[in-house]
Amino acid sequence: MQSLLPFLFCFIFLVVSQTGFAQRVDSTSIIPQPAQLELKEGAFNLTPSSKILLRNSADSLRPLADYLNNQIASATWADLAIVKETTARDSAIVLTLNPEGHFKNDEAYHLSVTPQKIEIAAPTTAGVFYGIQSLLQLLPPEIFYDDPTRVPQNTVWNIPAVEITDYPRYEYRGLHLDVARHFFSVSFIKQYIDLLAMHKMNRFHWHLTEDQGWRIQIKQYPKLTEIGAWRDSTLVGHYGTDRYDGERYGGYYTQEEIREVVQYAKKRHVTIIPEIEIPGHSSAALAAYPELSCNPDKQYHVQTTWGIFEDIYCPSETTFTFLENVLTEVMKLFPSQYIHIGGDEAPKDAWKNSQLAQRVIEREGLENEEELQSYFITRIEKFLNKHGRQIIGWDEILEGGLAPNATVMSWRGEKGGIKAAKQGHNVVMTPGSPLYFDYYQADAETEPLAIGWLNTLKETYSYEPTPDELTKEESRYILGAQGNVWTEYMKSGNKVEYMAYPRASALSEVVWSPKEKRNWDGFLQRLQTHFQRLEFMGVNAAEHYRNEITNE
Ligand code: ACM
Repeated sequence: MQSLLPFLFCFIFLVVSQTGFAQRVDSTSIIPQPAQLELKEGAFNLTPSSKILLRNSADSLRPLADYLNNQIASATWADLAIVKETTARDSAIVLTLNPEGHFKNDEAYHLSVTPQKIEIAAPTTAGVFYGIQSLLQLLPPEIFYDDPTRVPQNTVWNIPAVEITDYPRYEYRGLHLDVARHFFSVSFIKQYIDLLAMHKMNRFHWHLTEDQGWRIQIKQYPKLTEIGAWRDSTLVGHYGTDRYDGERYGGYYTQEEIREVVQYAKKRHVTIIPEIEIPGHSSAALAAYPELSCNPDKQYHVQTTWGIFEDIYCPSETTFTFLENVLTEVMKLFPSQYIHIGGDEAPKDAWKNSQLAQRVIEREGLENEEELQSYFITRIEKFLNKHGRQIIGWDEILEGGLAPNATVMSWRGEKGGIKAAKQGHNVVMTPGSPLYFDYYQADAETEPLAIGWLNTLKETYSYEPTPDELTKEESRYILGAQGNVWTEYMKSGNKVEYMAYPRASALSEVVWSPKEKRNWDGFLQRLQTHFQRLEFMGVNAAEHYRNEITNE
């Protein structure tokens, strides 16, 4: 018996290592889950002599090849040759643009991996980009390091043989960030965009103006950032307490920085939608230019606490001229079709007490202050439409009548979105429950400070953006969904990451994967590898579900 032991150990070692190897190579854990994925025999081994081959449209594909090469180089040292050729060679990653091919939609792609070569084909560069994202997630998670010295030397860069046919379920796949309650650096914003791109999300809603800070340089109105970007103090702890830190706080993005971020996002097929809040949440602008308010003699200040504030833009010609000038600069910076104009939480007291506002109501034959808000938004819509842009706004813009071409972001549940879709308006679903990632994600007793309520990962994962009560025809107006990250209680990028991930990973699957593909257990399983990716990227994701694979 004794003499057999070494053989037995040897046998067990072989079985374990073989299974380990098999798991490593044969399993895939792409998030969001592709529409169709078929695992094949064998694997492609990526080596420094592998090439990236541009089959056609080399000029359009070149930036994508550079992107892929940079991602690979940042973890492996390898700097792959990028070649323009028409015939595929062995050990090549072939990128093909095929606008005439049979694809489900514009952002679809086909990814085929065999031991000899990899092919990504798509009708658009966006599709090729998403094929590259899936390819990266087929590699060992160490590919997400941006420092090759941290990658274990014996890492084998194998990619399992697969056939993937994939396309997004919704055209609008968004994540928002409030940079006004707390301010985040350009490098943080870029990483936020990288994370979106990795999850095949395509809209970044940049919430740039608020009561607590104006964060975008506007050349014609320098006081917006000289005064409006800074507050004297900040509330400590939960809303309702009376403690302040007494520290001046602020910051803003220069136009040069914004251009840089927009370009960065464009390379990652992410469109940035800027939000300039009207008519409410405007204390910072009023602190800079009190003449925009209904009480120009009053002293305004950039708010130091959270909530809703009575003073809002007055519907005067001075205000409209100001907003048109601001929006003209905004449109020069952001090529996005949509400009977000806010519209939420605008108390009407200031307008009720203002002779000027009442005269506008009378002049325009309006019923009340809700209709005045509708008049306000519609005027801005006309201005933006004239310049080829569309407005998107929070669901309060339904009150008093929706501007003719407006898209509605439904945040107070889905009611607003349903009403807008029934009126033939486009809708982005972003209901507080379960798409506000400033809510707690686990028992508040055990969590760092958050605004309140609870949106668990499973609730986010289980969200269905298209409500049952819409007909098939009406459902077409549901463009997609978005997660919102309000930052009253997030002072640091680390905290933002903790609140947003992995809930945004769950959302990516909601908006990308076919409904019938959604599977919580499968997601949790794939999430384990995804946690490693996030960790290697230095993302401070919440790890409540790490090492947790359930069979609920
Ligand atoms: C919002 O959360 N006030 C849109």
